Amino acid sequence: MKEKVFVMIKPDGVRRKLVGNIISRIERKGLDINRIEMRKVPEELAKKHYEEHMGKPFYDDLIEHITSGPSVLMEVEGQDAIEAVSAMVGNTDPNKALPGTIRFDYAQSKTYNIIHRSDSHQSAEREIMLFFK
Ligand code: PPS
Repeated sequence: MKEKVFVMIKPDGVRRKLVGNIISRIERKGLDINRIEMRKVPEELAKKHYEEHMGKPFYDDLIEHITSGPSVLMEVEGQDAIEAVSAMVGNTDPNKALPGTIRFDYAQSKTYNIIHRSDSHQSAEREIMLFFK
């Protein structure tokens, strides 16, 4: 099924100059990048985006990281795009991510893990609305 997914290259991914590498992986997979924008995510928006994690021990570090510099925000579309991007990104914990995934290859911790992607249709719709509308 053709579907949309929200993808964000986090500030650590931008700082480490992985933007081209990640875009290239998305394109090689045959997915379309409908929208792309580099911008620093304001604190209010970061908090809305991650509201389900509020109160968890990692929450403050996560918000600090996301607001620490520019991120690359994308709306990606294609055949089974949510599953395809999820497979490409890998597990939240870089030590559990499969070899060849973005997080296995580059992530340093669960907080500094380079990239975010929507994990369901519902969150894709919500996140695209939140960041682009
Ligand atoms: S959870 O705890 O099962 O809900 O975690 P998960 O849905 O996999 O990811 C939660 C997001 O918070 C970021 N993050 C962490 N998660 C777990 N543990 C630690 N210590 C942690 N630090 C940060 C993690 O990267 C997820 O963000 P996104 O942007 O969705 O990948």
